[in-house]
Amino acid sequence: MAKIARGLAGVILTETRLSRVDGEAGELVIGGFLLDDLAPFALFEEALFLLWNDRLPNASELSTLREQMVSARTIHGITRTVLEKAAERNLPPMDALRIGVDTLSLQDADPYDNTRATNLRRAIAIAAAAPTIVATFWRLHEGKQPVEPDEALNHAANYLYMLTGEKPHPDAERGVETYLNTVIDHGMNASTFTARVIISTQSDMYSAIVGAIGALKGPLHGGAPGPALDMVFDLQKRVAESGNSISQEADAYVRQVVQADGRIMGFGHRVYKVRDPRADVLGRAAEKLFMGAGDTQLYEDARRVEKVVIQVLEELKPGRKLQTNVEFYTALLLHGVGLPTKLFSPTFAISRIGGWSANVLEQIDEGNLIRPRAAYSGELGRKWVPIEERAD
Ligand code: ACO
Repeated sequence: MAKIARGLAGVILTETRLSRVDGEAGELVIGGFLLDDLAPFALFEEALFLLWNDRLPNASELSTLREQMVSARTIHGITRTVLEKAAERNLPPMDALRIGVDTLSLQDADPYDNTRATNLRRAIAIAAAAPTIVATFWRLHEGKQPVEPDEALNHAANYLYMLTGEKPHPDAERGVETYLNTVIDHGMNASTFTARVIISTQSDMYSAIVGAIGALKGPLHGGAPGPALDMVFDLQKRVAESGNSISQEADAYVRQVVQADGRIMGFGHRVYKVRDPRADVLGRAAEKLFMGAGDTQLYEDARRVEKVVIQVLEELKPGRKLQTNVEFYTALLLHGVGLPTKLFSPTFAISRIGGWSANVLEQIDEGNLIRPRAAYSGELGRKWVPIEERAD
């Protein structure tokens, strides 16, 4: 029988020019740039252009993309209506984003056109509207009036503005910009694979992005940063009660979770067997933010917890090479810019829409149907028995 690649671990599906993940070296290349050379400097609009066009934009191209995105930021009545319903039902924000993105197809002028130009226009429209969907849902959920987008602001700053109604501090804006650039694409992860599978059947951009949002929602993929931060808060509470140090509390917590067969959120990765390079970029951005104006105690506690988690996991799970992943510092950075925990995963999706849509465009060019096989392990030779003759 053919060898089964469970979870498709190590299987190379295709070629991509979008990102290269080197799990052994702990290195991430996005559109030809080392992550460190791109994420802290680029506007998110530049990173989107890079993935969609395989080069950086010049000033006039950037300005055109900005205008296209600004005009696609405002959501229509039907989208607003479903977000009101989602808020009333207290749905998880990722569900609101999934439902909201689906409604964007109602505004598509030509849903049967599958040319590259139209698909790129769809990618721009979805990327532009996603922050408005999340912010509108969130404000409705919090019993507040949604804030209209501000066309003078860049994508990242406008997202913060629509959430809070206040123009963000430049450090917070830069923090979100760096975050969005850092997680925009990451090889053949589960949600990107989902988007590629969907478009490979010659389906459409909306279906691919909606499916990918569903895949990202799970805690083994994009749903971990909230719980990672909650762990640090929980440990701080234990310290206040016990008088122990946070390192002692973290040590006891990891042992307890691992003994119960649980997982420490924000640690371990299918591909990275050294520290996730995204954790470094986000860690530096978080440090800058927290040392500027934030809760330095939280930042320092998080660093202590991280150190202990890695040590204890190495002791309890030797050889598994469980290191800090992107989610741990995502949590710290996004908390530092003032985002509520429940918006961490949707903010991840707001960025990854860039990578998903670029992968969709690449997959359309490739033109292959993705269709693996499964080894049958069920019964054979069963005989049909009429219902009246079957045992109770
Ligand atoms: N805490 C405790 N133990 C862990 C952890 C963890 N975070 N991660 C892996 N392990 C253990 C497993 O229990 C397993 O132990 P065993 O060999 O005794 O059975 C071993 O390490 C290998 O685990 P796998 O699930 O086979 O590793 P895989 O590479 O498939 O898992 C994953 C990667 C899903 C990310 C895992 O490390 C995990 O669950 N981490 C916590 C959740 C998390 O942080 N998710 C975000 C990932 S980043 C992203 O997707 C953007």
